[in-house]
Amino acid sequence: VTVPVLTIDGPSGSGKGTISRLVAEQLGWRLLDSGALYRAVGYAAGAAGLDLSDVEAVTRCAQSTRIRFQPSADGHDTRVLVNGHDATDELRTETAGAAASAIASIPSVRQALVDMQLGFRKAPGLVADGRDMGTVIFPDAAHKVFLTASAAERAKRRYKQLKEKGLSVTLSGLQREIEARDARDASRAVAPLKPAADAVLVDTTGMPIADVVAKVFAVVRP
Ligand code: C5P
Repeated sequence: VTVPVLTIDGPSGSGKGTISRLVAEQLGWRLLDSGALYRAVGYAAGAAGLDLSDVEAVTRCAQSTRIRFQPSADGHDTRVLVNGHDATDELRTETAGAAASAIASIPSVRQALVDMQLGFRKAPGLVADGRDMGTVIFPDAAHKVFLTASAAERAKRRYKQLKEKGLSVTLSGLQREIEARDARDASRAVAPLKPAADAVLVDTTGMPIADVVAKVFAVVRP
């Protein structure tokens, strides 16, 4: 029997992370935050002092970086361990997002992360959050969603998230960074950000989280 997969792709700030977590909880399915893998490799490459445009060095780094997800002590949060170091907070920054986007455009880096992602597919099911979950990694997924929202709204959401975490950012600077990252993700040659032909498109601009969750849930359990 094939394990069911729900793919949730979309640009940063579309609400993917939050929605994926809530829907996975409701379904009792596992969660794959694929963006965290690219962030972890970008982080590990930076920590090793690598030049992010050095394809061979960054590829070796992607192949050898140990990435583990584990529940926080209070069970409310997932911590990401990169080569044994809890890098969760560093991975959330826009700097880490930009580094992730840079190394994610290297085909051999993407290839190095394929098996790890496929390994998350275990019973009773998987919710996979990313850019290419429905197009490249799980093309056979039974359920596919593509979330979008206006650039201004996405910047506002990220701003709120980062502020809550105590990071100092400006809204205009953030919107510029997000637009640059999305443009790079959408225009790259390999696994560009785009909806799978069979994905359900959901524009979340102005939509409360509960409504988006209900809509995505209905894709799986109509
Ligand atoms: O989703 P998140 O913002 O954490 O992703 C960070 C970056 O990782 C994205 O901007 C994108 O370049 C890359 N990424 C990717 N493919 C995925 C998930 C993330 O290329 N499946």
